[in-house]
Amino acid sequence: MTTQASPLPRHVAIIMDGNGRWAKQHKIKIALGHRTGVEALRAIIRESSDLGIEALSLYAFSTENWKRDPAEVEALMGLLLEFFTSEIDELDEKNVCIRILGDKDGMPEKQRQALINAETRTQSNTGLHLNIAINYGGRAELARAARILAEKALRGEIKPEEITEQALSDALYTRGLPDVDLLIRTSGEMRLSNFLLFQCAYAEFLFPTVLWPDFSLEDYHQALDAFARRDRRYGGRNS
Ligand code: IPE
Ligand code: IPE
Ligand code: MG
Repeated sequence: MTTQASPLPRHVAIIMDGNGRWAKQHKIKIALGHRTGVEALRAIIRESSDLGIEALSLYAFSTENWKRDPAEVEALMGLLLEFFTSEIDELDEKNVCIRILGDKDGMPEKQRQALINAETRTQSNTGLHLNIAINYGGRAELARAARILAEKALRGEIKPEEITEQALSDALYTRGLPDVDLLIRTSGEMRLSNFLLFQCAYAEFLFPTVLWPDFSLEDYHQALDAFARRDRRYGGRNS
């Protein structure tokens, strides 16, 4: 197992941004930028699992990304399918439990099946919780949670006063997992872009300028070191 400064974050979230700019810099097609991005992602997943991080949430495709050029969307959908087909054996072997954050029903059929298959096959694994956000939006997730709770209330299963922060948290895609401790967004952009709005309430943020396809294990270790040095107060005081 790799050594790393402690404390380690229990839950790391990553907004993998900068594939487009990376492709532009290298004067290659955008799809190749995304493909190289997948390579970076494979390494980060493995490392997180080896380090013993509890949960890793990766932003792969937002509800807003459908606005992009159809050819780019198609390339991303192709890569997604390829990723789940080629990685599932190794991830399962590594005891990784995959969860999809987002609306699978809004995905093309082949991709939808691959996502369901990955979740079903790894659901009882007890290692790294790997959350992949696909067709995901934080506001959509909160609206869905509100709907789930409203339906429960209508059926008389819960009272309005039982709609607590915990109940809301349990109605999110991330139910049962700890809140995000560390959020990393590559490419220097400093915004959440609708990612894990509820779960990031007390997350530490890091915005390395490196573009996602260049994000290395060294960059990851640096981010984890920086996290270990943060003074987390949660509104209180640390003496
Ligand atoms: C992030 O890279 C990957 C996805 C959104 C799928 P971008 O494609 O957003 O890269 P930039 O921001 O254009 O550089
Ligand atoms: C966020 O990046 C979504 C993913 C990384 C999947 P975007 O590149 O889509 O976000 P904006 O448009 O810069 O806010
Ligand atoms: Mg971007």
